[in-house]
Amino acid sequence: MNDLVWLEIKKENLISNIKTLKNLAGSKVLISPCVKANAYGHGLIETAKIFISAGADWLSVNSIEEAKKIRDVGINRPILVIGYVAESELEKILDWDLKIFISNFDYAEKLSMTGKIKNKIAKVHLKIDTGMHRYGVLMAEAEELAKKIKKLPHITIEGLATHFATSDEPLNLSYFNRQLENFKEIVPKIKNLVGNDLIIHCDKSASLLLCRHGLADLVRPGIAAYGYYPSQDVAKLAQEKNIILRPALSFKTKIGQIKKIPENSCVGYGCTCYTKRPTVLATIPVGYYDGYDRKLSNQGYVLVNGQKAPILGRVCMNITIIDITDCGQVIEGDEVVLIGEQGQENITVEQIANWAKTINYEVITRLRESLPRYYI
Ligand SMILES: Cc1ncc(COP(=O)(O)O)c(C=O)c1O
Repeated sequence: MNDLVWLEIKKENLISNIKTLKNLAGSKVLISPCVKANAYGHGLIETAKIFISAGADWLSVNSIEEAKKIRDVGINRPILVIGYVAESELEKILDWDLKIFISNFDYAEKLSMTGKIKNKIAKVHLKIDTGMHRYGVLMAEAEELAKKIKKLPHITIEGLATHFATSDEPLNLSYFNRQLENFKEIVPKIKNLVGNDLIIHCDKSASLLLCRHGLADLVRPGIAAYGYYPSQDVAKLAQEKNIILRPALSFKTKIGQIKKIPENSCVGYGCTCYTKRPTVLATIPVGYYDGYDRKLSNQGYVLVNGQKAPILGRVCMNITIIDITDCGQVIEGDEVVLIGEQGQENITVEQIANWAKTINYEVITRLRESLPRYYI
């Protein structure tokens, strides 16, 4: 392999996660995994295909651009665009048969007018703000909005959705329960206005893993589909229930230059590190441009020869310096693992997130889109 930095993605783990989530959702519930943000760093198109082969019914994306990439390769599954769509892009909703969230009338009216010009009916999902206060129509305005949209000729309200703010904090469920109660209150009211065949959805990974509320006709898991739990508390409770997710992704590079330097030598930009002993250094051709966070500077380690090789000094744009003194015989071109297993050792995404003081979501979605990805 000629690549210097690459990702390996285990298909069978992605498939296993989708099957686990489908089982949890139940056979009557549609599963619409989120493939936004380049499929959480896993590669949009290949991952979408793998998810479909594992039983995904719909796909959830953030943007029109992502939806277009999926349609361009001939995937014709229903696509729900869960992010903001500019009014100038409304035509594409109809051209590519996409479904979008709606939370205000002006927007719905413009979509209906576009539908009229194209002689098509747009399928929308009313997004209710049950307490997250991000997108969504406020509870008190939801019925009025549904009534007004229902009168528009070129729109069908196909679904009703909300999004939880704290479902990944299962040790304190009070706010989550409040949002759930709000949603339970609004569902029959909107069904009354629009019809009983509305597709009801509210679950992302955390609530799908832990909460059986029986409301949903569709679920929108993201992080869990890739094998990660949304938080440590969710992981603990899910694993206690024997819900096992399998991370699929490894992040790898190769050893570049090797050299021996004496004790008390400066390493890297800013001389933020001085060697404490005669040290064998290696450079690896990966840096923050690739999504290897600069906050890993002088933090954590990579794996070389199945041993931990600490990061020395600052992570640069395209280069990182590691200490391979204790890694045995190493030569230029040897494989280095940044995320994943080597020998008996394993560096998890959560470990990286911990070092970089962020969350697993950010670590994987930041992986450079143009990195080669191998599906094995
Ligand atoms: C509207 C919506 N639904 C579902 C998800 C998936 O969330 P998770 O990755 O926690 O499952 C997201 C994630 O950002 C979202 O914004």
